[in-house]
Amino acid sequence: MEAQRTGRTRRGGAAVAETHEARAAREAVVEAALAALDLDAKTRLLAGQDMWSLPALPEIGLTSLVMSDGPIGVRGRHWTADDPSVALPSPTALAAAWDPGLAHRAGALLAQEARRKGVHVLLAPTVNLHRSPLGGRHFEAYSEDPYLTGRIGAGYVAGVQSGGVGTTVKHFVANDAETERFTVNNLISQRALRELYLAPFEAIVQQARPWGVMTAYNTVNGTTMTEHRRLVNDVLRGEWGFDGFNVSDWTAARSTVGAVEGGLDVAMPGPKTVYGKALARAVREGEVTEAHVDSAVRNVLRLAARVGVLAGAEPVVARAELPPPVDGTALAREIARRSFVLVRNEGAALPLKPRTTVALSGAAARDARVLGGGSATVFPARTVSPLDGLTAVLPEGALTYTVGADPNTELGVADQGFTLRAICRDTADRVLATVPVPDGQIKWMGSDLPEGVTHDTLHSVELTGTFTPRATGPHTFGITGIGAFTLTVDGTAYYDDVQRPVEDDPFISFFGAPEPRAVVELAADRPVEVSLRHTVAQPVGIPLRVVGFTLAHQVPRRDPDELIAEAVAAARAADTAVVVVATTERVESEGYDRTDLRLPGRQDDLVHAVAAANPNTVVIVNSGSPVELPWREEVAAVLLGWFPGQEAGAALADVLTGTHEPGGRLPTTWGPLAAAPVSRVLPENGELPYTEGVFIGYRAWERAGRTPSYPFGHGLGYTDWTYDDIKADSSSVTVRVTNSGARHGREVVQLYLAPTAHDPERPSRWLAGFAGVEAGPGESVEVRIELPRRSFEIWDETANRWAVVKGSYEIQAGRSIADRRLATTINV
Ligand code: BGC
Repeated sequence: MEAQRTGRTRRGGAAVAETHEARAAREAVVEAALAALDLDAKTRLLAGQDMWSLPALPEIGLTSLVMSDGPIGVRGRHWTADDPSVALPSPTALAAAWDPGLAHRAGALLAQEARRKGVHVLLAPTVNLHRSPLGGRHFEAYSEDPYLTGRIGAGYVAGVQSGGVGTTVKHFVANDAETERFTVNNLISQRALRELYLAPFEAIVQQARPWGVMTAYNTVNGTTMTEHRRLVNDVLRGEWGFDGFNVSDWTAARSTVGAVEGGLDVAMPGPKTVYGKALARAVREGEVTEAHVDSAVRNVLRLAARVGVLAGAEPVVARAELPPPVDGTALAREIARRSFVLVRNEGAALPLKPRTTVALSGAAARDARVLGGGSATVFPARTVSPLDGLTAVLPEGALTYTVGADPNTELGVADQGFTLRAICRDTADRVLATVPVPDGQIKWMGSDLPEGVTHDTLHSVELTGTFTPRATGPHTFGITGIGAFTLTVDGTAYYDDVQRPVEDDPFISFFGAPEPRAVVELAADRPVEVSLRHTVAQPVGIPLRVVGFTLAHQVPRRDPDELIAEAVAAARAADTAVVVVATTERVESEGYDRTDLRLPGRQDDLVHAVAAANPNTVVIVNSGSPVELPWREEVAAVLLGWFPGQEAGAALADVLTGTHEPGGRLPTTWGPLAAAPVSRVLPENGELPYTEGVFIGYRAWERAGRTPSYPFGHGLGYTDWTYDDIKADSSSVTVRVTNSGARHGREVVQLYLAPTAHDPERPSRWLAGFAGVEAGPGESVEVRIELPRRSFEIWDETANRWAVVKGSYEIQAGRSIADRRLATTINV
């Protein structure tokens, strides 16, 4: 199915090749290991021993299997900045490059990161769909289109596994929003399930043969996904032939018998789970057969054998066959610039002209939001902000910076200006350990505690040290976390009380907003002592011991009108104004959905005002998923930058100065919420009916006859393309395009399939193939794109199978779903 460019083919989503003999030899080791285990050992293996790992079973030569999030880096066992990882751009960005080969390279880098950290399984990729633009976790998924999602996901999985590291394609299935995520019952027709939500999982299983899948928190049509025998055993394993392991999303396993009979292999995290002793007891009491346990153990042992932690089994990728080392910094930068989507570029405002002077503004220009919130968080060793990136490339004196607008109305983790350590004490207030910490965040899970400390001896943790302010004025200090806290700044105790949970999602105590607890007038450059002391208490609803809290801080706030006026004055004095607008952690994160698509704070006002002052205004949108752009027709250029990862500013400088063109095309329709045909994420009485059936994303916009702000597939480069010729049969299409501009470029040739006869139950067209081509000025390229048979099929709910819909189809080739340049008709 891989598109071929004349002269060169690219590795995309194909699984690591293995001989039949190698597989059979591994299976034999797995069977022997399984036969050597007693019931207690088997059931122990199916339960996490802590937050991230399974127990070792020395009797069969099995060492502990370690898992880690995923998907833009490898966080490792620590949830803090002291164990850095490369941070690639958000999954939406990766999808925007429309290049499974690039996703493969991203995967290979992540495998390298995983190996460096002793991680065997990456908890990624997320291949749920962008059903409603309000989904809080969309930055972490690829697209509204199942075909694009499947292609990118297959490339990613194949890449990670080419480095000998497993993946868990998640969250199986229909975890498309966050509201009531643990319990919501998504009511979905079989047709929509097959054609949309299951489709990427199916494609990835078939193309890349993933070694794992993660089953979701939510319920689908009345059955919770960790017990969904029909979808897991019959469809995923039975129909598609998935032979990997199936791990629950964290805390999602709800019952012992239901889960094991429903095909769930591993319950995470531990040590308290529905498996382990509870499962052994259920077998002994005759509630479930040992054969169920054996199937699950076999799947886990197969995984262990594949990644090389089961003695006697050859891993799929031998050490000598590992791919060559990848430069993570360079790849992060390349993915970022290839993901940026230039949606508007009036009068060729970009790239910037040589010797132009630039007035840069926006809080995110200085503190870029490089990644989205929740379990997808990793801690890069460095981040390059747009301000850093542009400072590095523009001549001295050509750049000014003003904040303009700061949407961060809430406190952030105390980092800038803080030098902190954590002092661990026992009940008698004796010091057990003192460790330096990189910022105000403590997240110690399971056995991940400082040397010399155990959960049984630990009574309190004090985060303490100095803070040297950059600015004079009222500084706000706050706390995230549950339990007793004492906050002292410069010798005065401002808070000495207990914080209680406000939400029943236990993860919100980690990801939730900090409570402001002290406002202290401080002078710039005068260091003060700070201390936040916490009496450790186990949060309810988390099955393992956790110490988690945050010292938060906010610099003195300035008058918003004054900030805008400053930015306008700077913009007026420069040739070009560049404004970076962004969402905040409170807008896009795991754990909750969005309530609107507006940019937070006064950012829209800032852009309106700057655009009025300078006709050469370029806006960079730093968000993981769609936001409304009410000023989009007032500015010269709009560049969507996603969450661009650690090299954000370096990649932005490449693209703004024109050393590289922005390579992205929209993987999701961008438009205002009021016009979005599907937006509901709020369940009613615990149920969320997907009443729109197969009409989500562009399928729904087209059916509604509405024009979005920017259509699916749209994105401009720095050159231009003509579409010259199209030829097709029912299995492939050949398109010839010419680079008609003045510089080398890359085009994403997109194929849409449109039934000639109108059928109200099918979308008017859908993506059926794509290929990236590169050409120099004046050069023509011919590309052959295979048409998957599935593109012509629908799920027949009566016969319960796929069925080709015979008839005539127009194959349309173009630059986006709305910019179709060539068409030809075929009959199938
Ligand atoms: C998320 C998963 C993640 C897991 C472990 C869950 O809350 O839904 O995507 O892999 O936590 O961090």
